[in-house]
Amino acid sequence: MSHPAPRKALTAADIRSRKGGAPLVCLTAYTTPIAQIADAECDVVLVGDSVGMVLHGLPSTLQVTLEMMILHGKAVARGLQRALMVVDMPFGSYEESPEQALRNAARLMAETGAGAVKLEGGRHMEATIRFLVARGIPVMAHIGLTPQSVNVIGGYSVQGKGADAARIRDDASAVAEAGAFSVVIEKVPAALADAITAEVAIPTIGIGASAGCDGQILVIDDMLGLFDAFKPKFVKRYAHLAADAGEAVRAYAEEVRARAFPAPEHVFTDEGDAS
Ligand code: KIV
Repeated sequence: MSHPAPRKALTAADIRSRKGGAPLVCLTAYTTPIAQIADAECDVVLVGDSVGMVLHGLPSTLQVTLEMMILHGKAVARGLQRALMVVDMPFGSYEESPEQALRNAARLMAETGAGAVKLEGGRHMEATIRFLVARGIPVMAHIGLTPQSVNVIGGYSVQGKGADAARIRDDASAVAEAGAFSVVIEKVPAALADAITAEVAIPTIGIGASAGCDGQILVIDDMLGLFDAFKPKFVKRYAHLAADAGEAVRAYAEEVRARAFPAPEHVFTDEGDAS
């Protein structure tokens, strides 16, 4: 039986082996052209369920479906050469039982070509993570602020402050012991993220956490300044693409109204080339 040559992508095991090494560079992507740009620098590209808010205009990640994740996962896969592609398991696709999680994770991986899935939750997801890993599904865990639980938490507040730190530390050790190959730690005090990074044997990927984590992740539309509905404190804008796009559309509109566009070089004649 012959197998198609797989792309030379990093694997979950490669990422796991980077614990304590050079910081892991991670970003989200949802489309082929953005995936190509991210792939040039990233170790991990996450097809995050943030796609619902930043591309589809949804009010939270709760409305994101498995079909949306598969569609965007397929698009991202076409843009990647080197980075490990991780796809988020959307709300409602894994919480019911390990068997439900396996069915949907297997579908996500088979239909998108992802090398791993990510799911939210700590100690209470331990059995599910163990079940998935034992059956060939690499899992990136996600603890601290878990946006799919926004209605239980009551907002997007910093997690693990004061006495609550013990809960997040316990979540971290639970997912590491269950076999997750890495763990995203979102919106916790920096000292807590540093303590967890020192305690667990798997890479910690910070978002609103600490520069001491084993890697960092941001939503790419946030750091490019493409999504500016709101800006959490932990987002640094490395570009201002929404503002640039607004300028470009204004310039185009002005030129159309003034009949300055299209100019002679943009139109065809009887004699010119046909392309
Ligand atoms: O969905 C997402 O983009 C994420 C990152 C914020 C880690 O989960």
